[in-house]
Amino acid sequence: MNIQNRLKLTRVALIIVWSISFFCFVMTLMTGMQSPHAGPNSFVWLQSLGIFTLLLGIGSGLFYGRWRFRGLQNQIADQSKKIKRCKERYRVLVESAEDFIFTVDRSGRFRSLNSFTAAFFGGVPSQFIGRPLSDLFSHEVAGKQLKLIKSVFQFGKSMRHEFMIVSGEYQIWLGANFMPRKDEKGNVISVLCIARDITESKKLENQLINTEKLASMGTLAAGVAHEINNPLGIILGFTDLLLEKCEKNSQSYQDLKTIERQGLHCKAVVENLLRFARHGEDIYEYCDINKPIRSIMEVVKHSLDMNNIELRLSLAPDLPEVKGNLRQMQQVILNLVNNAAAAMKNEGVLWISSALDANNEKVVVIIRDNGHGIQPEYMDKIFDPFFTTKSEGEGTGLGLSITHGIISKYDGTISCESNTANSGNNPRGTTFKITLRIRD
Ligand SMILES: Nc1ncnc2c1ncn2[C@@H]1O[C@H](COP(=O)(O)OP(=O)(O)OP(=O)(O)O)[C@@H](O)[C@H]1O
Ligand SMILES: [Mg+2]
Repeated sequence: MNIQNRLKLTRVALIIVWSISFFCFVMTLMTGMQSPHAGPNSFVWLQSLGIFTLLLGIGSGLFYGRWRFRGLQNQIADQSKKIKRCKERYRVLVESAEDFIFTVDRSGRFRSLNSFTAAFFGGVPSQFIGRPLSDLFSHEVAGKQLKLIKSVFQFGKSMRHEFMIVSGEYQIWLGANFMPRKDEKGNVISVLCIARDITESKKLENQLINTEKLASMGTLAAGVAHEINNPLGIILGFTDLLLEKCEKNSQSYQDLKTIERQGLHCKAVVENLLRFARHGEDIYEYCDINKPIRSIMEVVKHSLDMNNIELRLSLAPDLPEVKGNLRQMQQVILNLVNNAAAAMKNEGVLWISSALDANNEKVVVIIRDNGHGIQPEYMDKIFDPFFTTKSEGEGTGLGLSITHGIISKYDGTISCESNTANSGNNPRGTTFKITLRIRD
């Protein structure tokens, strides 16, 4: 039986006791008044019964009061224990969350924050209470947050926002939700912010956008390549005709040969573009990755020498074949080597290695230079089509996006790490790591 039912039952019992005692008391008085001739014994008996029941009523009333008070006391103790447990559970939840959780007032000063947030900024929660957002976040981020907080105070509605913070060398994207905390009257008293690291999903999102950009670029390239292919065929055809008419040792013959060579080179480029645009057609091709590396090295060796760039090759022998078209892999290596050479200007070391990964499941190719490196703020953009830091005429910004497209087409991965002169003690330079799938 719960406490409410017990109270009800006790109340009914008390009313019955009180009614009986009151009835007996009234009866004694009435009997005393109406029957002055009744025997003294019956009067005394009735009077005693009345007094007894009256006392019983008063006693039970006092007992009930005391019992009820105790019950209420227990109830309050129970409820406070429950509230304490609840509070503790929420505290543990908030404290163990690897999310940024904090509340701020209207002026953007911290009212509370969890240990994760405080630890991230190198302190303990009590250190930051009362301090403004701009103490922890950059001016730009804090300004944006303050605007949102003001809107939440004004409209009393939650708001979402994404912002980037820099921690050492890393850039972290946070997805934040700003929610109003209201009092009983519905007035906003503070804003609760829960922010989560969304760097990975942001990267995926960017990759998806790049893939889309590449797809549309592929379509564009295919159109252009198709248009160029026909006149190119005609140029080569007529060159062939003229070659037949010329003396082999004549100057004209040599000139026509140059036209033919360049024309064939254009044809190869156009074919490459068309192949790139036709996604998925040649994904079942395989090659020994050392072959395109060696052939590209043959081509660029001279220009590396001229630029005082030392080449250090470390190619594992007898590597299994990897998924990828040989010519496209040449293009990948050439793009990365060209970028490395451009970053080293007139001096440096270029390391190229190939090896099996630790699980013997993939082939890993590493191309590393000790050039000027990539600024951290550009790291997210280097695979974007048309992103370049080179001046006009020096680069189109397509090299890495095409490289990324080719590697992804063959289920491989490409990643980049880079240090500039401002990256602390880390050696300056850029490393591209490619993993390629082995033929089953
Ligand atoms: N090894 C590297 N060292 C330093 N910066 C690099 C390196 N590789 C790429 N980058 C940076 O990434 C940008 C994009 O490279 P990407 O190859 O896509 O285009 P690009 O070299 O500028 O032009 P393109 O290759 O089309 O001629 C470069 O402009 C450069 O800023
Ligand atoms: Mg390039």
